[in-house]
Amino acid sequence: MVDAPVRRVPGRLTAPTPGWTTTSDVVVIGSGIAGLTAALRLRGQVEKILVVTKDVLAAGSTQWAQGGIAAALGPGDTPEEHEVDTLVAGAGACNAEAVRILVNEGPEAVRELIALGTKFDHSPDGELSLTREGGHHRDRIAHAGGDATGAEIQRALIAAIERAPEIEVVQHALAVDLLLDGPLEEGGGIAGVTLHVMGEGQRDGVGAVHCRAVVLASGGLGQVFSQTTNPAVSTGDGMAVALRAGAVLRDLEFVQFHPTVMYLGPDSRGQQPLISEAVRGEGAFLVDGLPEEGGRRFMQGVHELADLAPRDVVAKAIMRRMLETGQPHMWLDARHLGAAGSEASDLGDREARVSRFWERRFPTILATARSHGVDPVTQLIPVAPACHYASGGVRTDLFGRSNVPGLYATGEVACSGVHGANRLASNSLLEGLVFSRRIADVLPGELRPASVPAVDGRTEGLVPGVVRRDLQEVMTSRVGVLRTAEGLTDAAQLLDKLAGLRAVEVNQESWETTNLLTISAALTDAATLREETRGSHWREDFPERDDAQWAGHFDVVMTDGETTLRFDAEPATDRGIS
Ligand code: SIN
Repeated sequence: MVDAPVRRVPGRLTAPTPGWTTTSDVVVIGSGIAGLTAALRLRGQVEKILVVTKDVLAAGSTQWAQGGIAAALGPGDTPEEHEVDTLVAGAGACNAEAVRILVNEGPEAVRELIALGTKFDHSPDGELSLTREGGHHRDRIAHAGGDATGAEIQRALIAAIERAPEIEVVQHALAVDLLLDGPLEEGGGIAGVTLHVMGEGQRDGVGAVHCRAVVLASGGLGQVFSQTTNPAVSTGDGMAVALRAGAVLRDLEFVQFHPTVMYLGPDSRGQQPLISEAVRGEGAFLVDGLPEEGGRRFMQGVHELADLAPRDVVAKAIMRRMLETGQPHMWLDARHLGAAGSEASDLGDREARVSRFWERRFPTILATARSHGVDPVTQLIPVAPACHYASGGVRTDLFGRSNVPGLYATGEVACSGVHGANRLASNSLLEGLVFSRRIADVLPGELRPASVPAVDGRTEGLVPGVVRRDLQEVMTSRVGVLRTAEGLTDAAQLLDKLAGLRAVEVNQESWETTNLLTISAALTDAATLREETRGSHWREDFPERDDAQWAGHFDVVMTDGETTLRFDAEPATDRGIS
């Protein structure tokens, strides 16, 4: 048992009464790899499918994925080896069965993505080109356009959706809240969702879609923090609507901070440029200063995989070195990539080779770094950890089912158990792909009868959008890479204060900020209660992993705006290897 605080946040979002109503069988919320895969696989199995997305179809995190998608596709590789790497990265908090499913169904799912039209990179001999990233003991990351993997997958999926006119798509549609046909304890479940749609003709403003199932695929929560690799749309909406509807959220404290995010200065906020781990996979390394001036590599000796250690290990080593040296960032040295074979004395030839390598292999990162005044061909890239991925989310079973009948979750919004305390690189696109396929395998056979939403008795509320910056700053400084009891208490106090404020204007900024606050409060409580260091959760005051006490998961539940946490101790056999 844990002594968990009770937090009060809005039980539902204040919103105008729906001005329009429509019906569907299934509503898919989100349009990245998880959402579009679910919609495409459900096609032909259920009559009416509606995909709704908060911005345009390509605005989510999938589009930004650089490194690639991991699967045991290379010669000599096996799902078992991929499984071991995934479990090791997950630091004893994975669901071993979910991991087994991921690695075994992964190769087939990737081949299906190729059949759909995704153009992955190939080597000159025609084989799928596979690279390596942190925590992998094999080259198993398929990539596209060099470092534009997500963009290519998104392109192929959107093209497939456009060839499927029977799937209706509504863009610029924020999911405000889920509608139930009765209390969960009396057998209630999903009956619909309220949306706010901007500028879509008759469906303008707040409306209701009555439906028999909802597939949440709305991505993560990166905007909880001041600096993140996530796009602006990642405001934790899916997790917040699910929590308010009675779904259990799990493992929220396991937020992954990507070690090599380009440092743009102390005042830079919002989405920051990612420098893919694949750059280290191709041979780049971290240094604490210019090697010519005495800077040294600091990952050697920290882990057997050195610069390619699992992400949490590298992020912590960078943070440690930043603290030791007082620098606001470290550097990535990639000035030698592709230069093998050139004479050291022939600098022009060497630089041309490096430049050609960068243009072919990492064109997006090269252009982005140069646009910020850093040329990776000749200069070190300043890097620091920033929020990258939520390993936790809506707790699901092995078929994406949440505890709310008719509510499924897939991709980053979900906690399927495959990531544990720290996601292995390039397992995220794969998770969305594999578990969306599994949802489509079961959902049609278990569709609930159409029902009418019950009167919603939850207490409504909304915090002002202007508090977002204060929230992000306290979350970054107190609930970021390094956590302590004192800092977490400070954060919880500020969040409580913000929760007491009331918005005057009802708009998207306030809805998103209320969602950010809801998730931040739960995340902070879970991080406070987990008095150990595990995976991406780093407690300075509890620096060791403590399996005797904390092998298991924190689950958050909400009843009419009151969130509580409980600890679900998991038997060792379900946790996989450490
Ligand atoms: C990266 O390219 O470093 C990110 C890949 C991932 O998050 O899995």
